[in-house]
Amino acid sequence: MRLEGKVALISGGAHGVEGEMMGFGGASARLFVQEGAKVVLGDIAVEDGEKTASQLRDAGYDALFVKLDVTNEQDWENAVRTAVTNFGRLDIMVNNAGTGGPGNVEETTEDIWDGQMDVHAKGVFLGTKHAIPEMRKVGGGSIINISSIYGLVGSVGSTAYHAAKGAIRIFSKSAAVQYASENIRVNSVHPGFITTPLTREGLKNPEREQFMLDRIPMGRIGDPDEIAKGIVYLASDESSYMTGSELVIDGGMTAQ
Ligand SMILES: NC(=O)c1ccc[n+]([C@@H]2O[C@H](COP(=O)([O-])OP(=O)(O)OC[C@H]3O[C@@H](n4cnc5c(N)ncnc54)[C@H](O)[C@@H]3O)[C@@H](O)[C@H]2O)c1
Repeated sequence: MRLEGKVALISGGAHGVEGEMMGFGGASARLFVQEGAKVVLGDIAVEDGEKTASQLRDAGYDALFVKLDVTNEQDWENAVRTAVTNFGRLDIMVNNAGTGGPGNVEETTEDIWDGQMDVHAKGVFLGTKHAIPEMRKVGGGSIINISSIYGLVGSVGSTAYHAAKGAIRIFSKSAAVQYASENIRVNSVHPGFITTPLTREGLKNPEREQFMLDRIPMGRIGDPDEIAKGIVYLASDESSYMTGSELVIDGGMTAQ
């Protein structure tokens, strides 16, 4: 029970339905409740989010879904209020919502650029901003911002995605320094290539899959649980001296 007594809000947490492919948010929610936490899942995918939360409740856990568009500040106020009103406090914030943004620099439209910056950079900023006052009230907390290896290194495409994930990396360090004295820790997670609802379509293309496999020293695509376990560690008090850090989970890809 590494998260006993803690309350978590997970953005982009809709994909945690038993028997279906899970994303990092949904897989984390399942591990969080097993470790004793109460969870609120926020997402724009209402049907999947409701299903995940109701399955967790049926299994005897405390879980709620709230409709949350991470680019909308009022939605954030509502999501944080939902956690505090129903479960009494907020200790853990996982800023995980995201989408892909393809294209090299010349192929990237203003709309793609703005969309990526909105959902990743602005979404993580707003989630962090609205979590902090509640964490202060309970003497601290852990904010986990899901960046990517694409926030650390470049590639031949995904220009706006790289820029937005890079913004998450340095925003996390900035917030970590600002709130360390209040025991509010802020870290970023940098997953490599993992099969999830977000990447499933791309991985169906054998050339795309081979492109990824050729770059991973461990020679395989990762599993969402391998990321969720890192998120549990950062959420728990086991990582109590860790803030402003980058947790890279990528089968060795960025080691080369
Ligand atoms: N799968 C990978 O290989 C990989 C690698 C590195 C980083 N990531 C990042 O991990 C995070 C989780 O992705 P995943 O791969 O687990 O897929 P996922 O599809 O399970 O998670 C993304 C979720 O974000 C939600 N979402 C999208 N826009 C939103 C918005 N405006 N407001 C609220 N929710 C929104 C989606 O509905 C979805 O449920 C994303 O930020 C993604 O960029 C994924």
